[in-house]
Amino acid sequence: MSRVHFKCAICIWNLLLSTVKMRSKELLPSVKQAIIRLKKQKKPISEIAKTLGVAKTTVWNILKKKERTSDLRNTKRPRRPRKTTVVDDQRILSLVKKTPFTTVVQIKNTLQEVGASVSKSTIKRGLHQCEHRGFTTRCKPLVSPQNRKARLEFAKQHLKKPSQFWNNILRTDETKISLYQSDGKRRVWRRKGTAHDSKHTTSSVKHGAGSVMAWACMAARGTGSLVFIDDVTADKSSTMNSEVFRVILSAHIQPNASELIGRRFTVQMDNDAKHTAKATKEFLKGKKWTVLQWPSQSPDLNPIEHAFHLLKTKVKGKCPRNKQELKTVAVEAWQSMTRDETQRLVVSMCSRLQAVIDCKGFATKY
Ligand SMILES: *[C@@H]1O[C@H](CO)[C@@H](O)[C@H](O)[C@H]1NC(C)=O
Repeated sequence: MSRVHFKCAICIWNLLLSTVKMRSKELLPSVKQAIIRLKKQKKPISEIAKTLGVAKTTVWNILKKKERTSDLRNTKRPRRPRKTTVVDDQRILSLVKKTPFTTVVQIKNTLQEVGASVSKSTIKRGLHQCEHRGFTTRCKPLVSPQNRKARLEFAKQHLKKPSQFWNNILRTDETKISLYQSDGKRRVWRRKGTAHDSKHTTSSVKHGAGSVMAWACMAARGTGSLVFIDDVTADKSSTMNSEVFRVILSAHIQPNASELIGRRFTVQMDNDAKHTAKATKEFLKGKKWTVLQWPSQSPDLNPIEHAFHLLKTKVKGKCPRNKQELKTVAVEAWQSMTRDETQRLVVSMCSRLQAVIDCKGFATKY
């Protein structure tokens, strides 16, 4: 029994000794210099220790260190004591790697379950130390190889077109405007440079309770009509089929194009099925409009997509509470877009053609 106690006492003693050693005050540089000086005078260690009033081991350590590095500066001490253990850090990192969309609060709770109480700021600091930062997710636009080729082809063909060519295009497109705008962006923990890792991206599906589908057109000189699909369909639904599409085109293209462009204009639309439907093709042929075929999956090249983005930002700022208010503020926002804004969007798109070529047809950030 007493032997066990004795062993215990030694253990505790050693522990205390090691902490005392660890926490011992750093020696003053002058003391260190004195130790070296006395050693050079061939004084024995015990005498040096006695003269300077330090432990023999300290003298010995200093001389050893001097031999090794010839540098006597104190080793760097951590500025702030660690609040997490290495195990905690490991656990945090593995949590983040497994579920990158986890939040700091979730990490905190998970750690709490295993008995570790760590503050949110400590978790954040720990993650930052291993190069993880909370980023907003990037929507990853997937472009199929076929569309990539089409995009590249289009960019090459149109790179040298004069500004007159771009100014004469009436852009048309559809978009969904949501009552409670959320662009699907969430916070994600990831390393720098891993934005496009599929684990770190969200799909670009728009969320929103209560939304309206709209068709709109614009040119460099300004915005044209903004039409809500459910105002056109017989059953008030928001599904746009080829017939509804033709009704809208009949009513808006001609008046808007002659106002914004003039007699000679080009209509631009994407390759949606209802645009390429046989009935629509016949209709377009009958109208004798010049139609610019637009490569699929190319919102980055389409000024009206950028205009929609601006529109939604403005709508969000107005906080509409219901669908009717949403429609009203959307029309106001669309009509209030200035010629400067639309002109700028068209010009900036031209500079994107080169980017598409540089990216070999892959999506450019927009
Ligand atoms: C676009 O067409 C609609 C429908 O004819 C018309 O009410 C509107 O004033 C036109 N807008 C412009 C800018 O020409």
